[in-house]
Amino acid sequence: MKISRFDISSRILHWSHALVFFWLLTTGVALFLTPKSLLGDPIIKMVHLYASLPFIILPLIIYLRGSVSTRNDIKELMGWARDDINWFIGLLKKNKADVRGKFNGGQKANFLLVLLLMSGFVLTGFVVWMKSMFSRSFVELNFIIHDSLAIFSILLLSGHIILALYYIESMKSIIYGKADAVWAKEHYPDWFLKEKRDLLNR
Ligand code: HEM
Ligand code: HEM
Repeated sequence: MKISRFDISSRILHWSHALVFFWLLTTGVALFLTPKSLLGDPIIKMVHLYASLPFIILPLIIYLRGSVSTRNDIKELMGWARDDINWFIGLLKKNKADVRGKFNGGQKANFLLVLLLMSGFVLTGFVVWMKSMFSRSFVELNFIIHDSLAIFSILLLSGHIILALYYIESMKSIIYGKADAVWAKEHYPDWFLKEKRDLLNR
């Protein structure tokens, strides 16, 4: 038996943001490696800058115009409770703690880091873009922060992808929308029961 985990709106939000992120990452790394004198540099720079628009606007549009389920997912990812802290303590003690809702503490932390990274990229990206408005040392500092954020996001994303490959049912749910019910009951018991109740009441 399968249970629905992510509707089409949530999946479009995830994969469109992932696609734009990879675009920015690839063009950013290309900018870092390409000598400024090469002809390709201004083109890559323009392509990098244009991608920053969907990077900001697309998640906002999908949040506002997407499904109620997407907004509920985001609200839950932003809502921290004592149980989430207990989940981390359990992880440190190698003692698996129960997950109370649809997401565990690690997933909420991942979401928070993604939001912080996005804000950091937007702010530092603006400064290095509008170089002439700021002092040279401030622009240089922002280049260093922009690059450091890129390195940190590569590390975070690698962990995210490794976990997604390890928990293959989770991967299926972000691709096809549904996950195995037995897996869902084992990993997210409260969420599983709530979904089942909602399904019966419909
Ligand atoms: C709103 C989002 C973003 C904006 C406005 C932005 C803007 C910029 C600008 C203006 C540059 C400088 C181009 C130059 O003068 O050579 C740059 C470089 C760069 N960006 Fe972004 N960026 C954004 C997001 C990202 C993301 C998400 C990543 C990586 C995940 C990234 C990675 C890089 C890298 C590695 C460089 C090269 C820096 C260097 O040459 O030292 N950027 N970005
Ligand atoms: C090949 C690339 C990617 C894969 C395979 C992947 C996989 C997944 C999976 C399987 C989930 C669902 C977890 C669940 O069952 O709840 C998820 C959720 C999520 N993904 Fe990705 N993802 C990728 C890229 C990205 C990128 C580029 C970002 C952001 C820059 C991102 C941010 C998130 C966030 C914030 C969540 C919700 C919180 C969480 O579950 O960690 N993902 N991803």
